[in-house]
Amino acid sequence: MRYDLPTSDDWDVRGRRVLVRVDFNTPVAAIDGRLTVTDDFRIRSALPLFTSLLDRGASVVACTHFGRPKGRVDDRFTVEPIRRRLNELCPGVELMENLRFHPGEESNDHAFGASLVEGVDFYINEAFSASHREHASIMVPPMLVPSAAGPNLRREVSFLLDVLNDPKRPFVAIVGGAKVADKLGFVRVLVDRADVVLVGGGMAYTFEASQGRTIGSSLFDATHLDECGALLGTGKVRVPVDTRGLPDGAAVGPQGGDDPVIDFGANVPDDHEGFDIGPRTVELFVDEIAAARTILWNGPMGMFEDPRFGVGTEAVARAVAASPALVVVGGGDSVAALQQFNLVSQVSFVSTGGGASLELIEYGDLPGLRALREGMVAA
Ligand code: 3PG
Ligand code: MG
Repeated sequence: MRYDLPTSDDWDVRGRRVLVRVDFNTPVAAIDGRLTVTDDFRIRSALPLFTSLLDRGASVVACTHFGRPKGRVDDRFTVEPIRRRLNELCPGVELMENLRFHPGEESNDHAFGASLVEGVDFYINEAFSASHREHASIMVPPMLVPSAAGPNLRREVSFLLDVLNDPKRPFVAIVGGAKVADKLGFVRVLVDRADVVLVGGGMAYTFEASQGRTIGSSLFDATHLDECGALLGTGKVRVPVDTRGLPDGAAVGPQGGDDPVIDFGANVPDDHEGFDIGPRTVELFVDEIAAARTILWNGPMGMFEDPRFGVGTEAVARAVAASPALVVVGGGDSVAALQQFNLVSQVSFVSTGGGASLELIEYGDLPGLRALREGMVAA
């Protein structure tokens, strides 16, 4: 676990050009026929760094990826709407076109990375949420020019590592989401660090199956059955004791549906599927959350985008928000749930990085942080 990231505080940047890698991968929508940024949180987050550099006399050029255009120019993914919003919030900062219009970005091509720092004197990585990607704009500049970690990236890393290394106890982790394969490494680390790990969402059914319970046609991953059983054997993992769902073939999704929701209890029958934790599980999870002094939450408890199956996620979100504990929420879906229930401001720390915060907790490091530590080009 490493905190020793280089900073830009004592650089003399007057009259120099600074490249800042940001993550302005931000929601946009057509409004009055024009693509417009609908959530500028990530842009606003970068303003303190931009302002400080401009005040110190630097010229600032920013770069970001936006969506997944797969190495080709694609008008749907131009940064133009993001650039417009940035200019409104902070005139004087240039923004390069989408890094992922070039195939060299995702292939971590050295020549592409080098082209980004032509005429540039310094590089700052202020893109925590992209620092799990071994992409050229993250990996190459620190080899070529003096480089530093931006203030938000530093705050995010030290906050997550502090929670993990020195939590106030009880430390309750809540893990959800659809795919058990994506989250098992994370759960393994949390079983070592936390006192209790609450598991919900689609990933929980493989744990339930390992207890010999029936799960009908709910999400299931046979290749991870034994490991789920082993994790339950640690005595730290709590999985749902009951489930709510529908018969196979019933409509499910953001548009909802007419079929009545069934309370299955502990076992989902054949030809039925679970989509949310049940009422007894809600009670158990809320009790664990209420006793916690540190809470880490990543992933929803069910298919909350269907209003019938947002009950478990909303109950967890409300319990988390009401808790006086130190609370860290990461992952796009859990943050979206907090937003949906208007609870964001009640949580101590909302991580900007879903994948990046999972990987930092799982591996204790990220490629982009390693690149900054190993860069070693003198300022
Ligand atoms: C995100 O929004 O999760 C980050 O910007 C990373 O985007 P990516 O998953 O397309 O690399
Ligand atoms: Mg993502």
